Amino acid sequence: MPIEFHRREGIFRLETPGTTYLMGLAEDGSLGHVYYGPSVPDNNMGYLMRTGERPLGPWESPRERASFDDVFPFEYPAFGGGDFREPCLRVRDAQGAESCALRYEGHVIRPGKPPLPGLPAAYGGAGECDTLELTLQDPVLKLRVTLSYTVFRDTDAICRSARIENAGGGPVTLTAALSASLELDNEDFDVLTLPGSWARERTIDRRRLSHGPQGAHSLRGISSHQFSPSIILAQHTATQERGLVYGGTLVYSGNFLTQAELDQFERVRVVLGIHPQGFGWRLEPGESFQTPEAVLVCSEEGLGGMSRVFHDFMRRHLIRGQGKHRPSLVNSWESFYFDFNTEKLLDLGRAAAECGIELLVVDDGWFGARDDDNSSLGDWRENTGKLPGGLRRLGEELGAMGVALGIWVEPEMVSKDSDLYRAHPDYAMTIPGREPALARNQLVLDLTRREVRECVYSQISALLRSAPIKYVKWDMNRPLTDVYTPSLPPERQGETAHRYMLGVYELQERLVTDFPDVLLENCSSGGARFDAGMLYYSPQIWTSDNTEAADRLRIQEGAALIFPLSSMGAHVAACPSHINGRVTPFETRGRVSLTGAFGYELDITKLTPAERALIPVQLEEYKKYGPVFREGDYYRLASWAGNGVYDALMSVTKDKSLAVVVFVQVLSRTNCRSLRLRLQGLEGPALYRDTATGEVRSGFGWMRGGLLLGPFTGDFVSKLTVLERVETEK
Ligand code: GLA
Repeated sequence: MPIEFHRREGIFRLETPGTTYLMGLAEDGSLGHVYYGPSVPDNNMGYLMRTGERPLGPWESPRERASFDDVFPFEYPAFGGGDFREPCLRVRDAQGAESCALRYEGHVIRPGKPPLPGLPAAYGGAGECDTLELTLQDPVLKLRVTLSYTVFRDTDAICRSARIENAGGGPVTLTAALSASLELDNEDFDVLTLPGSWARERTIDRRRLSHGPQGAHSLRGISSHQFSPSIILAQHTATQERGLVYGGTLVYSGNFLTQAELDQFERVRVVLGIHPQGFGWRLEPGESFQTPEAVLVCSEEGLGGMSRVFHDFMRRHLIRGQGKHRPSLVNSWESFYFDFNTEKLLDLGRAAAECGIELLVVDDGWFGARDDDNSSLGDWRENTGKLPGGLRRLGEELGAMGVALGIWVEPEMVSKDSDLYRAHPDYAMTIPGREPALARNQLVLDLTRREVRECVYSQISALLRSAPIKYVKWDMNRPLTDVYTPSLPPERQGETAHRYMLGVYELQERLVTDFPDVLLENCSSGGARFDAGMLYYSPQIWTSDNTEAADRLRIQEGAALIFPLSSMGAHVAACPSHINGRVTPFETRGRVSLTGAFGYELDITKLTPAERALIPVQLEEYKKYGPVFREGDYYRLASWAGNGVYDALMSVTKDKSLAVVVFVQVLSRTNCRSLRLRLQGLEGPALYRDTATGEVRSGFGWMRGGLLLGPFTGDFVSKLTVLERVETEK
């Protein structure tokens, strides 16, 4: 059974195909973390909680509560006893005191996985997964905490979340309510996070775990450019292929904390959840709070093994639109910015049709009176000056050419210069008596309020009904500031940022339910909301406003540590790059985009004939090899961020019959020989033919001997290698 309670040993056992997760009950009913790692069959593992150990200091007694709390590996640590590490739970009672001590109350094991109301969360039916709901309670506060664990039969991921219910007679306020924690011994760990900024999201940062807290966070109301809501602990010697690695990511898109803390006894506490700063959630008697979900993965097969588990898990159990057709597209943003009209768009559409591009996205600038980014957000009606006949006519004319229509929207925002703001200035999130902080000259709508959500949704849904729109790019271009809502009393203002996220999730849920044929792509000034929460609603996310191929290699490598390649919007853009001025070959730009959700982000009518002739070739490659990257197993072979010279990744179909390798020599090397690239993921004894050279070698040969590449002269030179499994050497 994937989940068992062993009463004699007081051990809860969770099993995934390759990992074991054990929790244990201490004598006083405290729930401790016992073990998480590669499978172990034993149940008598409670000794790892070390409750019997005598402390060396003469003044400490394990019988005393504070000494016990100081070392005990709490499964869901609460603040206010003698545990001074980062807690998951802080509760302020009606007297203003903060203390909580959780003890085991009961548990149930059920097949399948119940949804989390209002929140994005993994899914799976009976037969696919099982869920343990473990209830703890604080007898004084009468607070009940239900920890939920789901294990899947087909992946080594474990989902965790907590529901906190006030079963007492008076109100309490949660000042921290995180999703999960882990207690591990420090096995010479490095901490990996994905810091960045606008246009350089998700750089891989790897450093030694040291004492004190370290990790990632966001207080911007979005998961942010600056960090991914994820954290990885990898043995210092762990590589892409080998070594013990733990990864965690949140199915959440707002303020978060993912933190590892090495303590006084060289143990590590990892916590993941909503950032406690600025958070406060009041629970009246009978009310409960559901935390977002955290996904945990453990792999002994290095970072690559961890990534593949995350990818499979998200593709099978989280991303609802995974199987949707991902059309090749051309986007108007870097083609025209705000300067377009129907005629220009139809010219672009005609060129797209000639090349075989399936969809044209009309990005920012089609609505209200928007000719720059100073106005009209909130007025989701076509600018008929620019688009006579509106989106409907445009969609129909494109449709007649065989090109589908997509649009950009930014539903969470309002410009001061808009009809919406003039009619409802109170819809913008502001603090009474303060001038709100503008960013990109816009304000955030108070989506905690139902009437504001209705106002936005009624406009967007009417639009989608009015024209043949097949794709929506949902953008969000500024952080939250002035976080306050008049819809909540003062003692509940700490709920605003999370209620805002719940409002966003409700809107996206309605959109995907009402318009199941529309492909949704999330975006936030590029990749400021690239997280598993958003992937529940949209199978792809605009990875970065940086569309320059060499930078993109690094950005996509960072994202691929956790997120599947299928989730990354990746477009061929103009040269010199609008973002950094770099000039790269059209062919290389195509290969960097091929590994994600493919498109063009430039005016293809302006290309040279030679470049234009490459588009059908690239589209053919996308048709043939796109599914290998979207659905196959990903292997990172080399990283130019690490070696300074070249980058290589590959993907292998699940049945191991086809493998595609993308290699880019980013900077040329003078007086060099060919590079040897050892491949991964092939079936060792099977034979594979290089479709370009006809060379046949065993999987072992390609993996142990490898592929020789180059020598190449020139920067940004790329090569695509396709290996297909064959029966014989001929
Ligand atoms: C954001 C997006 C871009 C584009 C612009 C439009 O920056 O990331 O792709 O849509 O907004 O204003």
